[in-house]
Amino acid sequence: DTIEWDPEETGKSGYDHFMIKEIHEQPRALRQCLRERVDEMAGTVDLDDLGDLSPTGVHFVACGTSYHAALYGAQLFREAGIPAQAFLASEYATSVPPIGDALVVGVTQSGETADTLSALRAAQKRGARTLVVTNVVGSTAARECDHAFYIRAGPEIGVAASKTFSSQLAALNLLTLGMTRSDEAREVINALRELPGDLQRILDESRAEEVAETYTGAGAYFFIGRGLQFPVALEGALKMKEITYKHAEGFAAGELKHGPLALVTSETPVFAVIIGDDEKARKTVGNVKEVEARDAPVVAITDGQTDVHRYADHVLEIPETHERAAAVLANAHLQLLSYHVAAKLGRNIDKPRNLAKSVTVE
Ligand code: G6P
Repeated sequence: DTIEWDPEETGKSGYDHFMIKEIHEQPRALRQCLRERVDEMAGTVDLDDLGDLSPTGVHFVACGTSYHAALYGAQLFREAGIPAQAFLASEYATSVPPIGDALVVGVTQSGETADTLSALRAAQKRGARTLVVTNVVGSTAARECDHAFYIRAGPEIGVAASKTFSSQLAALNLLTLGMTRSDEAREVINALRELPGDLQRILDESRAEEVAETYTGAGAYFFIGRGLQFPVALEGALKMKEITYKHAEGFAAGELKHGPLALVTSETPVFAVIIGDDEKARKTVGNVKEVEARDAPVVAITDGQTDVHRYADHVLEIPETHERAAAVLANAHLQLLSYHVAAKLGRNIDKPRNLAKSVTVE
């Protein structure tokens, strides 16, 4: 007799899918990303292996989930006073903007995405210095770029990216801290150090499955966030589309009233990521009131510093921490949400229809 077994099946360590296994691997992946790169005493990040980069400008190029990480990374550099912008790799390659002496940074988990390689090559052709933030040592992007920064997330089998996204966010923090000066460095480093533990508690205690149960039948799912939480909203929606095949959109919270609000009804839950109690958090609470007034169910992903719970049907809690780390924690709730909606709908979670783990055509 021959025993048939799929080597991939044996690697799930008791989980139903690779995706949920990889979601649970995030605390460990983050520890690996941070290991030996952060000097907690000095409050500095060691990027010695990259040489002296100190860029005067940064162009990020990326696709899919990695593009959302790039949007976050660009914001970190801008906060440090360095002009930085994130571009969709396919558009960058189609119409290369003036690069000047900007450093061009590819963000690609696999290091093999054709659109991203093509954007990096277009930049190199114009004489730009290039760096890749990737998970795969020896990948095409790692070989072709001047510098490679590894996120060290470990292998990711599920087609929809999960742990590599949180590791990209952590890596982009390290990159910014290592290349720029910031008064906040120590605070960010402390938040990063606490992130794996905070994330573990979210994974253990999240009520995302209950929320998923409540809204499995929804007509569409909308996600809103401001600032660093805007890429989290985009990623929440992308995950939902990829693995549930349901209509989902992420919006900058302030943009909702400029069109998308027309789509909001009692059938469309709105997931709002609200961190801290600064002006941008309060403005997003204002946007939540607008959707609540249209009878849309509201799920707040929040650290509870505003009064958004007064307008929300459900709250997915995260602890108070730096807003950069909060983005990773909020995203974990949204990963679990999409996962449980997809599981309840019986979708092929690890291999969604029409999608590939790395797309090697343009
Ligand atoms: C594919 C995958 C996405 C991924 C994107 C970029 O489309 O299905 O999940 O985000 O490629 O992949 P990369 O390897 O460049 O990060």
